[in-house]
Amino acid sequence: MNAIEVNNVSKKFKVSGKEFYALKNVSLDVKQNEILGLLGPNGSGKTTLTNIIIGLLIADEGNVKLLGKDVEKFPDITEKIGLVSTDARFHWALSVNDVFSFFGMVYGLDRKERKKRADELMNFFGLESLVNRRVDALSTGEKMRLSFAKALMNNPKILLLDEPTLGLDPSISIKLRKEIKNINKEFGTPMLLTSHYMREVQQLANRVAFIYKGRIMDTRKVKGLDLEKYFLKMVKTNED
Ligand SMILES: Nc1ncnc2c1ncn2[C@@H]1O[C@H](COP(=O)(O)OP(=O)(O)O)[C@@H](O)[C@H]1O
Ligand SMILES: [Mg+2]
Repeated sequence: MNAIEVNNVSKKFKVSGKEFYALKNVSLDVKQNEILGLLGPNGSGKTTLTNIIIGLLIADEGNVKLLGKDVEKFPDITEKIGLVSTDARFHWALSVNDVFSFFGMVYGLDRKERKKRADELMNFFGLESLVNRRVDALSTGEKMRLSFAKALMNNPKILLLDEPTLGLDPSISIKLRKEIKNINKEFGTPMLLTSHYMREVQQLANRVAFIYKGRIMDTRKVKGLDLEKYFLKMVKTNED
C-alpha cells in the first residue's frame, strides 16, 4: 500500500472572472519510507496539491488516497498526517509550551502523554531553552522548528513538507534538512517535500516529480541524476 496516492487530480481557480487550471490531471504516489520531492517553480501548483492532499481544498476532479483510504470518504485519515508549511502561524501570545499543550489536546493526548511527547520533541529540536518564550519572540528558524515539532506531536504516519526551508538562513536550512533526513531514517516516515530548491530535493528525496504549470511532467529517481541539468531541460522542453 502506498502512503499517498494522487489520481488524476484537477483543480480550477477563477481569477478576475477567468478560470484556469492550477492543477491538471495530476497523478503521483509516495511509497512507504520514501521522500518524494515535488520540484517546480513558484506558482506551479505545489501548495494547491499539498492542500488537497491534507483535505484543506477539494479537488474538482480525481481523488487522493492516504494509506489506502479515500480522503473525501474517510476525512479522519488526515489526522494521521503532519503538515509543515511556511504558512504555519501560531497566536503571538502563546508560549512554546502552550503550543505543545494546545496541539496535544487537539490530538487527544492526555496530560501525561502530552508532557512526554513535548519533552521528546523539544529535546529533538533543541527547543528546551525556549519553552517559556512567547511565539512572537522566536526567530524564523525557531518558529520553523516549532512548526516541525508540532507536526510530529501525533506521531504522524505521513509528513507533508511545503517548502520547509523557504526564507530561512542557510545554516538553519542545513540543520533542518538534517532533521528531515533523520526523521525519515529513524521512523521511516514517508514524506512529500515540495521545494523550488534543486539542492534540497537532491539531498533529501529518493524520487522527484517535476511539476510545471499544474502538470506533472516527469517522475524519476534522484540517485545519479544531475537535477540542475534535468530541471533546466524540463523547463525548456515545456516552455510555451
Ligand atoms: N485561492 C486561489 N485563488 C486563485 N488562484 C489561486 C489560489 N491559490 C493559488 N492560486 C494560483 O494557482 C497557482 C498555483 O499556486 P500554488 O499552488 O500556490 O503554487 P506553488 O505552491 O507551486 O508556488 C498560482 O498561479 C496561484 O496564483
Ligand atoms: Mg507554495
